[in-house]
Amino acid sequence: MINLGILISGRGSNMEAILKSIKKGKVPIKPVVVLSNKPDAKGIKIAQKLGVKTEIIESAGIKGGNWDYDRKIVSVLEKYGVTPRNGLVCLAGFMRIMSPEFIRHFKGRIMNIHPAILPSFPGLHSQKQAVDYGVKYSGCTVHFVDEGVDTGPIILQAVVQVKDNDTEKSLSEKILAKEHEIYPKAVKLFAEGKIKVKGRKIVIS
Ligand code: GAR
Repeated sequence: MINLGILISGRGSNMEAILKSIKKGKVPIKPVVVLSNKPDAKGIKIAQKLGVKTEIIESAGIKGGNWDYDRKIVSVLEKYGVTPRNGLVCLAGFMRIMSPEFIRHFKGRIMNIHPAILPSFPGLHSQKQAVDYGVKYSGCTVHFVDEGVDTGPIILQAVVQVKDNDTEKSLSEKILAKEHEIYPKAVKLFAEGKIKVKGRKIVIS
């Protein structure tokens, strides 16, 4: 059985969607820990209510990409059995850049959800970028994490229409509903061993 660790920084709605889908469906994965870099993240209480252990490793004042900080995350994850052999790490609104060392450590075992159709609108405020640019469609992407920012192989995407009267807020809500569909799906596919990586392409069997 694969051990799942979820990293959050705030609201935790994607985390909640993943945990609930695991509870409901027959996903061969065990959510062992939810880890937050912010002590006041709302998602912590939600995880606890759903019976998952939580940990906080505060990152205030520590820049992203810092291996000294990230190795603390590694040791907590490994304490719960999330290892490079049988673990999956899901970034779910974890608003820090991971260090290359962390990414290499869990190579091919870190997923992220991004609120845009990558490679469009990487980085921050993707929904605002989409509205400002005037695209007619946007959406979300689940991808493996590599050493770039939002550049890893794409696992699943979902599209939403951008209407003339959409704002950053209304578009974010539409996209979030799709995020809650595709992130649990991607976790299930991984747990079932159905995701094959071929270069930068993903083939789902
Ligand atoms: C989600 O919209 C997620 O796609 C986004 O943060 C939000 C977290 O919400 N992530 C990024 O922008 C990463 N670059 P949640 O805490 O309710 O899951």
